[in-house]
Amino acid sequence: MQRLLDHQTQANSDISTLDTPFLADALAGLSAGRKSLPCKYLYDERGSQLFDRICELDEYYLTRTETQITADNAEAIAEAIGTGAVLVEYGSGSSLKTRVLLDHLQAPAAYIPVDISEEHLLGTARVLQNEYPELDVRPITADFTQGFDMPQGLNSERTCVYFPGSTIGNLEKHAAIRVLRLISEQIGSSGGLLIGFDLQKSREVLEQAYDDSLGVTASFTLNMLRRANRELGADFDLSQFEHVSFYNAEAGRIEIYVESQCDQSVTIAEEQIEFEAGERIHIEYSHKYTIPGFAQMAESVGFSQRAVWTDDDNYFAVMYFEK
Ligand code: TRP
Repeated sequence: MQRLLDHQTQANSDISTLDTPFLADALAGLSAGRKSLPCKYLYDERGSQLFDRICELDEYYLTRTETQITADNAEAIAEAIGTGAVLVEYGSGSSLKTRVLLDHLQAPAAYIPVDISEEHLLGTARVLQNEYPELDVRPITADFTQGFDMPQGLNSERTCVYFPGSTIGNLEKHAAIRVLRLISEQIGSSGGLLIGFDLQKSREVLEQAYDDSLGVTASFTLNMLRRANRELGADFDLSQFEHVSFYNAEAGRIEIYVESQCDQSVTIAEEQIEFEAGERIHIEYSHKYTIPGFAQMAESVGFSQRAVWTDDDNYFAVMYFEK
């Protein structure tokens, strides 16, 4: 106990001088009338590993379905992207779907994985570079919603942004449009966008995908609080918060929260945050689109649809756009 207390004091005193974006965002999000924490902080090293486990769950059909669509149509996709392109992957994580693409692309000029989780990104990039010794792999640690500079000296005129994983669905509509506009600027007039997004479907299938029977998804969302404890010296009692998620059919999205199980107060960097029993912290939305609905959104920022691929159940769509 003494050691624990010492450790805590130590952590807290470090925090008074700590001024990280996570701290600022956490305090801003938790002081608001409707509490929230930005979903990008889900992906520390442990969160990234938990997310990889989510992708292997029976209930989480998204990754498996998108990978299958990509594999089944790899040649057509590679042909659409064309020869000698620079492939820029947004939110590359473990680059699980990328290999299928890289195996089919004709003479890619470079592969640029972009991710917010640096350790995970660099590890993955190293493995990929070993697997593809001819390929110019240039990882960039960045939050792609904020835009980022492309590496210098790339030997290609043609950039294709690859944005899989239905990550676009985690942005609210206005933010999704903003990112599509950033991509549209980044690829210039000759580039392309290959993007995967989840489709609207039955509530049952959707809700199980975000609340699996093994509780991996619950651990993933609660990892946000664990991270705040570790990095910000917060004192969230993880046994007094629960993962909650449901499909909001009207808004066409899964909503994900962490819910306080009792009246309690939490301290972060000397700020007291009060929770009532049942009060929720908003963690993430996961929007589900229709193909025409998504195409319309992309068209509103200057894209035009070139191809769409989907699975037999129409669970997921991969679309290719040019300008
Ligand atoms: N892009 C993923 C999705 O919307 C992210 C995700 C999957 C997620 N499961 C989650 C985010 C649970 C938060 C909580 O499907």
